[in-house]
Amino acid sequence: MSERFPRTSRYHPDWIRSSVSGGANSLWLAEWLTEAMSLGPGMRVLDLGCGRGASSVFLHREFDVQVWATDLWFSPDERMERIRDAGAEHAAFPIHADARSLPFAAGFFDAVVSIDSFVYYGTDDLYLNYLARFVRPGGQIGIAGAGLMQEIDGPTPEHLAAWWEPGMANLHSAQWWRRHWDRSGVAHVDVADSMTDGWKYWLEWQRAIAPDNQVEIDALTADRGRHLGYVRAVARRRPDAALDEPISSVPVTYVKRPLYRPRTRAGVADLYG
Ligand SMILES: C[S@@+](CC[C@H](N)C(=O)[O-])C[C@H]1O[C@@H](n2cnc3c(N)ncnc32)[C@H](O)[C@@H]1O
Repeated sequence: MSERFPRTSRYHPDWIRSSVSGGANSLWLAEWLTEAMSLGPGMRVLDLGCGRGASSVFLHREFDVQVWATDLWFSPDERMERIRDAGAEHAAFPIHADARSLPFAAGFFDAVVSIDSFVYYGTDDLYLNYLARFVRPGGQIGIAGAGLMQEIDGPTPEHLAAWWEPGMANLHSAQWWRRHWDRSGVAHVDVADSMTDGWKYWLEWQRAIAPDNQVEIDALTADRGRHLGYVRAVARRRPDAALDEPISSVPVTYVKRPLYRPRTRAGVADLYG
């Protein structure tokens, strides 16, 4: 229960816990992200990296949108059971797919929502161009998740060293995401910011779901929001942007040619007459 998240607070804590698929409360992040988006009945939403699908159920129930609950690591079968029990099977569809190889038609979605997942693939300079293809012109792309309050230039701060792993190089600040997306030229960034007291919610949730994860709890406690917290970014696909088509094959025809230059006059004569 948290006054900051009135929508989430209506959901049963056991239901939220039973769908945990990462280190964050996906409903808190989905609620915060959607405060900066515009979702309405019947819209088609891609929930990218939805884990076990709690955010997909939330998006459908809160905004009456249709959701393609897409994830790589977690089983779509378990997700389907959760969706069915939540009475959302007519509007939330579990898909097993890699975010880098999505099985959707161009322009299909009104919006993409990605909760605590985008960092695993979206830092690629070309990824927004790829993803924007699946969103209609003017459609929204929103991400929220763990991130940095500002970029860390130089060595990892000492108080974070015990927790830090090489994979955390994918954590970035809101300003970083704004620049990253701006320079792609395919989307206009409406919002890029960090959650007020995000580190406190991160810490509170860790204590609730993983009280033995002392390394992370210690890092967050020592940091006190200087570096760690939650970031979000929302952009709209520019209607005027020409997207690069994905290249899946380049057709070529083999033409046989001599491998080496001829070394004798006769050879030259053979070749050129
Ligand atoms: C930290 S979990 C977050 C899951 C869920 N959104 C949540 O907040 O509980 C990261 C998720 O990103 C997904 N993910 C990572 N790489 C992916 C990829 N290449 N394609 C699709 N999903 C991916 C994983 O399957 C995983 O469920």
